[in-house]
Amino acid sequence: MELTIKPLHPLFVAEVAGLDIRDPLSPEIQDQIQNLIDQHGILIFRDQNISDDQQVVFSRYFGEIEIANSKHNITKQENRRLSNMFADISNLNKNNEFHEKESRQRIFNLGNRIWHSDSAFRPNPARYSLLSGREVPSKGGDTQYADMHTPYERLSPEMKELIEDLRCEHSLMYSRARLGMDYFTEQEKEDFKPVIQPLVRTHPATGRKSLFLASHAGRIVDWPITEAKLLLEELTEIATQREYVYTHKWKRYDLVMWDNRRTMHRGTRFEDTKQKRDMRRTTIAGDPA
Ligand code: OGA
Ligand code: MN
Repeated sequence: MELTIKPLHPLFVAEVAGLDIRDPLSPEIQDQIQNLIDQHGILIFRDQNISDDQQVVFSRYFGEIEIANSKHNITKQENRRLSNMFADISNLNKNNEFHEKESRQRIFNLGNRIWHSDSAFRPNPARYSLLSGREVPSKGGDTQYADMHTPYERLSPEMKELIEDLRCEHSLMYSRARLGMDYFTEQEKEDFKPVIQPLVRTHPATGRKSLFLASHAGRIVDWPITEAKLLLEELTEIATQREYVYTHKWKRYDLVMWDNRRTMHRGTRFEDTKQKRDMRRTTIAGDPA
């Protein structure tokens, strides 16, 4: 079967039709999808009613799955709803009930609503994320994506020179602190210790440079904190202007695959203590940036 490709934004994002991801991929189709994700950065597959196992099998065509563990989340293993091959992007606890409004897990998860790149706080930040919408709210709960190539390319030569060799510290504590979450256990402080990432990165497949920003970035190495925060704010504001953003309105059984090396994303508001949003993410581990 032929794949049909429909670009959804002038800079990135394409919808791919003609594929049932439950079927094994031929090497040709696997190659085609690899080329498409390199070219478009975000691929949308509609009507994919898949099981967790099928999502894992499809994901593995594109690399090794990142395993969730307590170093990267506040959820203890015994409280997980999904296997540790998944990041649980839902608003549900292990009994499939809504998180309590004041629950620490809910508050922590709200951190997904500020611009980020997945696992930027890990030494090897994520390559791809594959998010499956198993149940979606009737209103709100979109995911917005921002392209990080074009805003970089349009920076002034002076700004490019200023940021070329800068390195940032990323931590889950920095992104959560932005939202006022200021309590972490001693163990969490140890587990969430900052990692260093370059501010400008080069995509290995295309050679294009991009801004590696995320709400997890809270410091710039050797810079005073206030100036670092100001520069990161400034760049994030530039990079998330409307012309660089695509908003995905979820339909049930959409599967969205994105390249974290050249995009940022964030969730948008919905009635998360009233409407179920069951989203399950597999993440493909990356190399050092
Ligand atoms: C993610 C993510 C935001 C959302 O899946 O990694 O940040 O809620 N999602 O759509
Ligand atoms: Mn995310």
